[in-house]
Amino acid sequence: MSAPASAAASSPVSYEIADRIATITVSRPDKLNALDRATITALGEAIDRARASAEVLGVIVTGAGRAFVAGADISQFPTLSEEEARRFAQHGQTVFRRFETSPKPVIAAVNGFALGGGCELALACHVRLASDAAKLGQPEVKLGIIPGYGGTQRLPRLVGKGRALQLILTGETIDAQEALRIGLVNAVVPAAELMATARKMMGQMIANSPPALALAIETVERGLDMPLDEAIALEAESFGRCATTEDMREGARAFLEKRAPKFIGR
Ligand code: COA
Repeated sequence: MSAPASAAASSPVSYEIADRIATITVSRPDKLNALDRATITALGEAIDRARASAEVLGVIVTGAGRAFVAGADISQFPTLSEEEARRFAQHGQTVFRRFETSPKPVIAAVNGFALGGGCELALACHVRLASDAAKLGQPEVKLGIIPGYGGTQRLPRLVGKGRALQLILTGETIDAQEALRIGLVNAVVPAAELMATARKMMGQMIANSPPALALAIETVERGLDMPLDEAIALEAESFGRCATTEDMREGARAFLEKRAPKFIGR
């Protein structure tokens, strides 16, 4: 059952809920969904709305038309001062961090070009599924800039320093199969099956206990930047927090009673 999108018709980002999954679609297809200030702001509003909604258990991010997102809107660049450029980066970084720290799983359904800020948006999601038509890359150096929405940090964390630097320094665009080979995307599917595959995977995720999902995301995200001893201490802490939930009792009871669990989200 689809809830009506309440965003204004002119919004560069659409938001729909079906089967407890919010789909956030970047919709400036005539500009290949390039991220201008209004689009970044609308993306931030959409993820905050999904995070706050009791109806939503998971989020899928995608793009309208032939692009996922072809990067930050280049038309803004020629006149940026140093201070404006710094704020421009901070604005996108803050919004993308809302995707990464979402306690509800976020899947990027990469339907086409994911370049620059588009690749960075996908990197800020928990899982990336690519259509076989997707093209990914960090072409910023070709414009005399560097990735500014987290790409210099998330890309090496995901694919390793050498592969990340190769992509960032050449500015090359790679296809979906190459992105799969280097671990930049989790899977590649035929374009026509992309959204169904994303919904199926999200369905598998959100059938699980919401607090367990939130704790798993938080523990992975925070732990990766800690020394191992601190990170496993965090894991034990999070594991302990699972035991404060009804869902933990229900999960174990359901297994022992050989039935499907009925999670209540606390
Ligand atoms: N910022 C602003 N506008 C963009 C854009 C971006 N990042 N990417 C695409 N567009 C616009 C184009 O200017 C064009 O607008 P126009 O029709 O008003 O001229 C429209 O989107 C279609 O793009 P076009 O270049 O004609 O399509 P294409 O199929 O020939 O090429 C790309 C597709 C993705 C290869 C090409 O658009 C491109 O290289 N985009 C920039 C990618 C980039 O460098 N991103 C990082 C930015 S930091």
